[in-house]
Amino acid sequence: MTVLITGGAGYIGSLTARLIRASGRATVILDTLENGHRKAVGDAPFVQGDVADSSLVERICSEHGVDEVVHFAAYKAVGESMSNPEKYFNNNVIGSQKLFGALNNAGVERVVFSSTAAVYGTPSTVPVRETDPLHCESVYAETKLMIENTLRWYAQTTPMRHACLRYFNAAGASDDATLGEDWRFSQNLIPHVMKAVLGHSPVLQVFGNDFPTPDGTGVRDYIHVEDLARAHVAALDYLSAGNESITCNVGTGHGTSVLEIIAATERISGKKVPHEIVARRPGDPSQCYADAGLITEKFDWSPQRNLDDIISSAYAWHSSHPQGHDS
Ligand code: UD1
Repeated sequence: MTVLITGGAGYIGSLTARLIRASGRATVILDTLENGHRKAVGDAPFVQGDVADSSLVERICSEHGVDEVVHFAAYKAVGESMSNPEKYFNNNVIGSQKLFGALNNAGVERVVFSSTAAVYGTPSTVPVRETDPLHCESVYAETKLMIENTLRWYAQTTPMRHACLRYFNAAGASDDATLGEDWRFSQNLIPHVMKAVLGHSPVLQVFGNDFPTPDGTGVRDYIHVEDLARAHVAALDYLSAGNESITCNVGTGHGTSVLEIIAATERISGKKVPHEIVARRPGDPSQCYADAGLITEKFDWSPQRNLDDIISSAYAWHSSHPQGHDS
């Protein structure tokens, strides 16, 4: 079995690619390297190119005997998607549609797709279930939902089956601190906390402490990127066993506040996280965490790492890679 991994040179993609190989499957990675990093691929088969290049995708599928795909390649900056929607619709949606067409021509029948909990928008109740209303609040989220819907139609009209994984907040680094996120390009909380504790930014801004949460700061479901990677292997196993298409949350089911992240970082690093409370960030929900019942029921998967593992792996990675893979 060979798995084509689009975006396999990125943060979640590179870690997942490594785990898929460790689980006994061959891989081939397709990445433009616009946001990914060649070093993150190691010596695995790699093609630099775009998912929208249908003839390239079909050639890769036939040359490598691809029968499964994990599709990560996409732009993911929420703010940028609102200022440049065309970039996101073209790359994420049209790129994915071209990809699925090429995969269908090549006879590929199993696709795991990297979706997002952002499709729920501001949830009216937590924990969030897959059957709850969808309410995209950004172009980025809408592009992911459009791709989910495209896969749903492929499942109805062709032999192609899918697992759409709605990630909650991916965080942390590989257990061996060799793969992680480049904080220079991330807007997310934990890279910002790491910058502050390691002295690469003067102060962390905490966006609001007047939310209706136990300590007033925003609550999210942080999922260790190694656990997230394991969910993709479980999804491939689920589809290979002949099961029907599925869309499921990938989260821990537990919420953690910004102040709890800061406290854990201070305890693990032994250093203060300089921070200040500022105004809420527009559009931030007060709390969002997963009902993880479906994934734990359907897949051979449950999270194996906790918040301390997230913080300690992020701390080890960022300490040793202040320039990401360019370090
Ligand atoms: C964000 C995106 C979401 C995307 C997800 C994963 C928005 C509105 N949502 O989710 O679409 O799927 O990242 O990439 O952009 N915080 C601070 N200070 C900071 C950064 C964050 O206090 O410097 C707080 C936020 O207010 C929030 C929590 O930390 O309460 C997590 O924020 P973040 O890591 O940006 O993730 P989300 O907003 O949940």
